[in-house]
Amino acid sequence: MNDAKEEIKSRLAVEDVVGQYVELKRAGRNLKGHSPWGVDKTPSFMVSPEKGIWHDFSANKGGDIFTFVMEVEGISFKEAMEKLAEKAGVDLSKYRGGDSNVTKKKVRLKEALALATKYYQACLVRNETARDYVFYKRHMNRGTISEFRIGYSPASGKALRKVLEKRGFTEGELDDAGLLNQYKSDLFRNRMMVPFIDTSGNIIGFTARVLDKSEPKYLNTPETLLFNKSRFIFGLYNAKEAIRRNGFVVIVEGNMDVISSHQAGVKEAVATSGTAMTEQHLKTLSKLTSDIRLAYDGDAAGVKATERAIMLAGDLGIELTVISDYHGAKDPDELIQKDAKLWQQAVEERVPAVDWLLNKYEENLNLRLAPDKKKYSDVALKLLSYIKDEVERASYEEKVAKRIGVEIKVLREKGDRLNKKIEQAAANRYLKKPKTVVTSAYLKRLEDSLLALKLFGGIVETEIPLEVPEDEVRINELELVFDNDHEGIKEVNYEKEATELMKRYMVELNKQKIVELTEKLATLDENDAEYEEVIREISSLQKMQK
Ligand code: UTP
Ligand code: MN
Repeated sequence: MNDAKEEIKSRLAVEDVVGQYVELKRAGRNLKGHSPWGVDKTPSFMVSPEKGIWHDFSANKGGDIFTFVMEVEGISFKEAMEKLAEKAGVDLSKYRGGDSNVTKKKVRLKEALALATKYYQACLVRNETARDYVFYKRHMNRGTISEFRIGYSPASGKALRKVLEKRGFTEGELDDAGLLNQYKSDLFRNRMMVPFIDTSGNIIGFTARVLDKSEPKYLNTPETLLFNKSRFIFGLYNAKEAIRRNGFVVIVEGNMDVISSHQAGVKEAVATSGTAMTEQHLKTLSKLTSDIRLAYDGDAAGVKATERAIMLAGDLGIELTVISDYHGAKDPDELIQKDAKLWQQAVEERVPAVDWLLNKYEENLNLRLAPDKKKYSDVALKLLSYIKDEVERASYEEKVAKRIGVEIKVLREKGDRLNKKIEQAAANRYLKKPKTVVTSAYLKRLEDSLLALKLFGGIVETEIPLEVPEDEVRINELELVFDNDHEGIKEVNYEKEATELMKRYMVELNKQKIVELTEKLATLDENDAEYEEVIREISSLQKMQK
C-alpha cells in the first residue's frame, strides 16, 4: 500500500487537492489561506508545494494530502486513498498483492460468521418452537427465510462456540467476531437470528430477537472490525437492485419491517440497525438515489427521527418524503400483516418531509390562539432554518406565515432573531466549554514551535522533554512551523526564543494542571485525605504563575 501512496502523491500536487476546499494565495515559497475548519480570522492555513504538506495553525493540525482529505471529508484513510487514487488515475488493485494483517483478520472473522449463519439456519430447521415463531407468528415464507438467511440460536451455553472451535477458530477470533459474551460463552441464545449482510454479501454480524416477550427484545452484534452500526444499512444488500431500478428507497424503523416489506414486494426497504440515522447512512443512500422516503412511526420518536433526517440532508440534494398512512397499524410490518396491498400503496402516497412535520407541529395546538401561534412558529422556524435552498425556504416561510396569519416580514424577523440566538449560544459554548481543550491545543502549538526550533534551529538543550519525531511527514510539517514561527529571527537569537517559548510552555502547562486539579477537587470530599493535598498543590502552582 505504501507504493500506491507514493504513486498517488507523486501525481497529485498538494495545492491542487487542498485548493478544491481552500482558496489559496501565494506567500513566498508557500501558499496561504483560511482554515477550512473555520476558526481563524486571519489566514492561518499553510501549504508547502515543495514538501507536499499542509499545516493549519488555528486548528493545530497538518499532514499530507491523505490526512487532509480524511480530515476535511471526515472519512477513513482507506476511503481517502480510494478517492485520491481515482483523482490521480492510479489503479489500486495493482498494489493489493500482499494482504495486511487486518485484511487477513477480517477474512477470518467473515468465515466464522458465515459458518455461524449456516449453523443457526440448521438449528432453525430442527427447533419446532423457533420454526413456529418464524412461520406462524412472523409470517415469513420459505423464500424470505432463505433470502434473509434467518436462523435460530440454541439455548445451551456454548453450542456455537464448540462448533466453531472444531472448525479451527480460536476463542479470540470468536470474541473479535462479536459472537461471545463476557464469560466467553455464546452471546446469542434461544433467539431468532437475523444476519447483517454487507453490500458485498458477507455476513458481518447479527440482530437476534427473543421468541417471547422477554427482555431485551433484540440483541445486536457489538462494534467489531467488520460491523460499524453508524455505517451499516440493514437490507441494503437485498434492496440495492430494486433501489437502482425503481429510483427510490424506503427507510423503515425496524429490521423486521424491512423483511416484511421485501416479502410484500416492496424491495426498496432498508433500516438503520439499533441506532438513529447518521450522515454516513444518508450519504450511502444518496449515492443510489435522491428519492428517499421515510416510513417511521408517527409517534414523538418518529418526529424526532424525521427532523434529524432533514437536518442531515441539508447539503446532499435529497428529496425527503414521509410515508405516513398506516391505516391505524403501528408500523409497516403490522400494516403488511393486515394487507400487503395497503403497504404497496402507502409507499406511493408520500408527503414532503417538511410539510409532514409542519402538520405534526400543529397537532396539539390551536392556531387561533396567540400563544400557540408563538409555539408553532418557534418549532417551524427552527425546522426551516435547515432548508438550504432559498426558494424552497421562502415558499415554506410563506406557508407558515399564512397559517398563523402574520406578515411574512414579521416571521422572517423572528427567524433572524432566533438564528442569532442559536449562533450566540453556539459561540458561547465554544468559548466556555473547551477551556482545557483550548489550553491543551495551545500547549501543542507551543510544543510544535519549540520542536521546530530544536530540529531546524539546532537548539540542543530544552528543559522540557521533547520527543523528536522520525516520521517524514511530521518532520516536514515541523519545517513549515519553523518557517512560519521562526524564519524572521536571527540565528543568534534562537536560544533566547527557545527560553521564551519554554517559559510560556511552563506557564501554560501549569494553567492546565490547575484546571485539572480544580476539577479533581470538585469530586473530593472535604474530609478526604487527598483534599488538603490537592489544595496545597493548586496554591503552589498558582504562586509559580506569578
Ligand atoms: P421495534 O421495537 O420497533 O422493533 O424497534 P420491531 O422491528 O417493530 O420489532 P418487532 O416487530 O417487535 O419484532 C425498532 C428497532 O430498534 C432496534 C432494532 O434495530 C429494531 O429493529 N431495537 C429495538 C434494538 O436494537 N433493541 C431492542 O431491544 C429493541
Ligand atoms: Mn414491529
